[in-house]
Amino acid sequence: MSWKEYYQKHRMSAAEAIQLVRSGNVVSIGHAVGEPTALVDALVANADQLHDVELLHMVLMGKGEYLTERMQGHFRHNSLFVGGAARGAVEQGRADFTPCYFHLVPELLRTSLQPDVAMIMVSPPDEEGNCSLGVSVDYTLAGALAAKTVIAQVNRHMPRCHGDCFLHVTDLTAIVEHDQPLIELQPAQIGPIEREIGRHCASLIRDGDCLQLGIGALPDAVLMSLGDKNDLGLHAEMFSDGAVDLIRNGNINGRHKNLHTGKHVATFLMGTKRLYDFVNDNPSVYMAPVDYVNNPLVIGRNDNMVSINSCVQIDLTGQVCSESVGLRQISAVGGQVDFIRGAALSKGGRSIIAVGSTAAHGRISKIVPVLDEGAAVTTNRMDVEYIVTEYGVADLKGKTLRERAQALIHIAHPDFRPQLMEAYEQRFHQKWAG
Ligand code: COA
Repeated sequence: MSWKEYYQKHRMSAAEAIQLVRSGNVVSIGHAVGEPTALVDALVANADQLHDVELLHMVLMGKGEYLTERMQGHFRHNSLFVGGAARGAVEQGRADFTPCYFHLVPELLRTSLQPDVAMIMVSPPDEEGNCSLGVSVDYTLAGALAAKTVIAQVNRHMPRCHGDCFLHVTDLTAIVEHDQPLIELQPAQIGPIEREIGRHCASLIRDGDCLQLGIGALPDAVLMSLGDKNDLGLHAEMFSDGAVDLIRNGNINGRHKNLHTGKHVATFLMGTKRLYDFVNDNPSVYMAPVDYVNNPLVIGRNDNMVSINSCVQIDLTGQVCSESVGLRQISAVGGQVDFIRGAALSKGGRSIIAVGSTAAHGRISKIVPVLDEGAAVTTNRMDVEYIVTEYGVADLKGKTLRERAQALIHIAHPDFRPQLMEAYEQRFHQKWAG
């Protein structure tokens, strides 16, 4: 049978395809803006026919209706990253959280998690029957390869990205044609604090560096400060609209990358239609699974790798919490430690934690004597290197506990420095000398 005949034979409606999900199944759902929304809607509509279905997912950008109270008993969400949409359900015990390094999620899917069904979104097939996983390759491809049943939403709005990101039509059990624009994430508002942090980070970045930045106001502010840099590279978990201008203007050209020279590497993408149009059929963008892109050994093969991530709280010894406020899980490690360790393995590499000095509109210092009770140590104090706030840069690498505390107090918000100095004096049994 030709792939075209196979395609026609396995084409069905979302409602028909979802009948392949059985009670008790484990279902892996395409990540972030690669969520197959039409399939998830059909699954939720079929809730009354199902019980105890476990749904695996990371950053949830869709409606998340399966997290609501009335879905209890039908679906249980196992979140491998607690984004904004899943926070309430995890906190209230309606969903679970599994801590894991992002680069190890595919291995977890192949071994302990073992999905029965993968629900994914792909681009329409090319002449040879290959469908691109587009903006979400990460664990989505591994989930599809690990599952016995693969239900695919074929969406002509899914960019046809290049790289190691294709499935053949004959790998798909059920094919649901449903065109719908991808979920968009608008660029964050950048204020004076973010601009200042961006400027300090830019002072640590040199021409020819290879960058990883996360998502949000801080990464965008850093990107905005890089307009005078040249020959930068991109090897990142993800990138957003902020990187597009720097690529188009030639500031990012990947010329000095040891790996995938001239290409911009990522494992997932999130942004606006402008980003999705940019990556569509763009051979300079290389999308690959997360166990490759985020593998510290792969990251470290690029010289001068610079990772920039953010956090919730830092104690005076350099322990970084990036995922909880005390016991309350508000995020997860994602690729933070993957890239910090990758940068440490890279010749000339550097890692930066960039963060505003306060939270809650200035009421709380993010630099604290000790982490809140119950806070998770996301990046430990052996891995941490630069911390950047709007007040400057603290270089913690190779520094004693006392030197770390001094450097961190210098970049804390001035309102909180007196109490941090007091904690310093108590801890180190010596007067603060400035
Ligand atoms: N004490 C109390 N509350 C705090 C706090 C603190 N020290 N720090 C942050 N918060 C609260 C904020 O007030 C905010 O609450 P709200 O949602 O009710 O407004 C919430 O926590 C999120 O903080 P915010 O500073 O707005 O988050 P952000 O968008 O800048 O993201 C992280 C910061 C740490 C959550 C984010 O960078 C992250 O998830 N990092 C880990 C994953 C990662 O690094 N991945 C790799 C790159 S993709």
